[in-house]
Amino acid sequence: MTKPLIRVLMGERMHIPPIWLMRQAGRYLPEYRAIRQKSESFMDLCLNPKLAAEVTLQPIRRFGFDAAILFSDILVIPHALGQRVSFEEGNGPRLDALDEPSGLCRLRREIDETALAPVYETIARVKQDLPPRVALLGFCGAPWTVATYMVGGGGAVEQAPARQFAYRFGEAFAELIELLIDGSVNYLVRQLEAGADAVQIFDTWAGVLPGDEFRRWCVEPCARIVNAVRKSIPGAKIIGFPRGAGTKLTHFVACVAVDAVGLDWMIEPSFARDRIQKARPVQGNLDPLALLVGGAALDREIDIVLDTFAAGPFIFNLGHGVLPNTPIPHVERLVARVRGVAAGT
Ligand code: CP3
Repeated sequence: MTKPLIRVLMGERMHIPPIWLMRQAGRYLPEYRAIRQKSESFMDLCLNPKLAAEVTLQPIRRFGFDAAILFSDILVIPHALGQRVSFEEGNGPRLDALDEPSGLCRLRREIDETALAPVYETIARVKQDLPPRVALLGFCGAPWTVATYMVGGGGAVEQAPARQFAYRFGEAFAELIELLIDGSVNYLVRQLEAGADAVQIFDTWAGVLPGDEFRRWCVEPCARIVNAVRKSIPGAKIIGFPRGAGTKLTHFVACVAVDAVGLDWMIEPSFARDRIQKARPVQGNLDPLALLVGGAALDREIDIVLDTFAAGPFIFNLGHGVLPNTPIPHVERLVARVRGVAAGT
């Protein structure tokens, strides 16, 4: 039996759309906070297969989602390239910023595979305990998004440091992107070999790039990753999420052979339905703040998403990740409503 989420990735419309949420494992869950407290650091948790597998499964047990997403972070790749990565409570990630081209010399020429071995072990462990109808998703950050953190040393307003670096030092930036393309291909292939049913490429910062830069740093690298992964694993299922791309999404779907496209909540619904979903299955795109607020606003926004996309191949998700203060009953209500409304109850 093919898993519902995979059937959508094959282009099928499901009467009841499969549902999972980006950042479905995380601080809004008390059982996550309990395990997080036991780990020295967030990176230790990501690289501890037993605990990471447990955290991956927590939201499946609680909410019965249709997909589990590997618990890890996009920044394990810079870590495996030899860059120091840490996470400070409330401040997000901290890396030794590359700042200028000479900073690239501090990186390894290729990924240290032994550093990523725990991730593959996590996938194998989760796979054993996952109900058969639930898909297991692996992921990586897209080269552009990962590079913004590597260059800037963390998050910044509209990732300005990385954009400046790319304008100033185009060649060095291209070199970094090449390194990340190669590393990401290998990483995704290994995740699929370890048992992931599909993988998602997160380009969280795609939206801050102007047209030409979007093509160069988002579209081209993502297209190359997808093609190279399929060369190793024909038929590999891949979801692309170029957040904030807006109307540039038409270019993304024309050039990147992903099986589905993740939509953020800011996109115009009729544009997404008529221009994007016509070309490819879509995933998304409830505003995470509507989930946090709950009540009538949540119900209304869920219904708009369903009205817009449920007539075609569609995976219900948020338009970005679950926010830490999201009340658990709101998530329960979301799952019940998506399954209930679609079933006609
Ligand atoms: O449940 C899941 O979605 C799987 C796990 C997952 C995490 N990060 C766990 C996490 C996934 C898929 C990611 C991807 C990720 N990480 C992205 C792309 C998607 C997105 O959210 O835009 C990005 C940009 C990162 C980098 C990153 N990691 C940031 C900016 C932060 C700080 C923000 C925050 O929420 O604190 C992290 C930390 C992080 N990654 C946490 C979790 C659960 C919180 C850390 C903690 O628990 O201490």
